[in-house]
Amino acid sequence: MTHPDFDVIVFGATSFVGKILCRYLLDQFGTDGELRWAVAGRTRSKLESLHAMLGDAAAPLELLTADAADESALRRMCERTRVVISTVGPYALHGEPLVRVCAETGTDYCDITGEVQWVRRMIDRYERRAAESGARIANCCGFDSIPSDLGVFFLQRHARMRFGEPCVHVGMRVKKIRGGWSGGTVASMLNVIGELAADSALRKELANPYYLCPTDHSFSVRQPRHTFVARDADFESWTAPFVMSAVNTRIVHRSNALSRNAYGDAFRYDEAVLTGRGWKGRARATGLAAGVAGFGMAAALRPTRRLLEKLAPPPGTGPGAEARANGCFDLRFAGETASGEKLLARVTGDMDPGYGSTAKMLGQAGACMALDVAKGCKPGGFWTPATLFGERLLDRLQAHAGLTFELLDVGTQRDEALQ
Ligand SMILES: NC(=O)c1ccc[n+]([C@@H]2O[C@H](COP(=O)([O-])OP(=O)(O)OC[C@H]3O[C@@H](n4cnc5c(N)ncnc54)[C@H](OP(=O)(O)O)[C@@H]3O)[C@@H](O)[C@H]2O)c1
Repeated sequence: MTHPDFDVIVFGATSFVGKILCRYLLDQFGTDGELRWAVAGRTRSKLESLHAMLGDAAAPLELLTADAADESALRRMCERTRVVISTVGPYALHGEPLVRVCAETGTDYCDITGEVQWVRRMIDRYERRAAESGARIANCCGFDSIPSDLGVFFLQRHARMRFGEPCVHVGMRVKKIRGGWSGGTVASMLNVIGELAADSALRKELANPYYLCPTDHSFSVRQPRHTFVARDADFESWTAPFVMSAVNTRIVHRSNALSRNAYGDAFRYDEAVLTGRGWKGRARATGLAAGVAGFGMAAALRPTRRLLEKLAPPPGTGPGAEARANGCFDLRFAGETASGEKLLARVTGDMDPGYGSTAKMLGQAGACMALDVAKGCKPGGFWTPATLFGERLLDRLQAHAGLTFELLDVGTQRDEALQ
């Protein structure tokens, strides 16, 4: 594969996220810019509708058809590109053949799965093959888990520069989040919870915070857990569990392991949602925690899962353009080193996290893989966003994807809690 036709092929271009991503790539790179890209999906007529929707500027875009279960079609697609970006989910149902073909053909791959049990299976099955072929595989390149993974990466880099040591504990707190859900995301969440409900061994494995680390990792420190309502002394606020933390924490620990324990052997990391002070903050935390627990229980039981499936947005749908533009997120990372030095960072996004921002993060991850991270500089295998892209993606996200990464005065967290 010395001179493939494309740098990037978007597979699943007709998905809800895929369409937003294609619009973004067109706006960012056009069709004759530095990134040569094409779109692929299983249904020709849907690809043609997408093509028409993108307008005249998209006329030169090539449309490729492939079904996620058709390995020879996937192989033909992979032969034509350096990177495949996949939005075909639920990944646990449709994703494996493409990962296998990428690992076999040495094609780089990134996605936005949040299905950690599937990521673990893919690592176990294809890590060796990807290492041999040179395929770099980067899962979780959406809201889960780029802001968490790169937020910790950013904070730790500054901790080392300022104090000469990394933070031994980082707490990520969701200060603000505004967005919605698509049919594909709800389907993926219901599928994960369904798998967990049916498999007690998997439930036990998933409870391990080091679940995604290489099996020879050296971590044993007990991790903080936010299972219900709690008080956060640093932020002087009540907190509720954060629904994405089960994914993000696993990715952050994998990043630590893959970077030779750069955050330390005893690194602790946790995530929660800030709900404010006083009885109102406590009531909000209780409502949120009960909502998360209630959804989990309803999704675990077959009859209520069926009902949720019926109530969920249909596949291909999600928050509209206005809701995406009005969305945002604001995450705080409070770190403390072994000597007691403290550091605070903020990561923000200018659109809704799950779709507007996720599409931009995924697009820039794919571009970064194709244009910035040479094969010789990172070998094949399963990476995390922080370990594969690091600084290069952080710069791209700030320059082109509406994300900010900045340090704050440590006092800010209390001042803001008082507001
Ligand atoms: N990490 C994050 O932050 C994040 C954010 C948003 C979404 N997600 C994940 O991204 C995925 C996509 O979400 P979405 O809402 O965009 O989903 P969606 O609109 O339901 O789209 C699913 C896509 O999969 C395609 N597909 C299904 N079966 C296929 C097959 N056999 N062969 C080829 N293509 C097939 C569908 O093709 P057709 O169009 O032809 O039906 C469609 O394009 C989900 O897994 C979701 O959980 C993650």
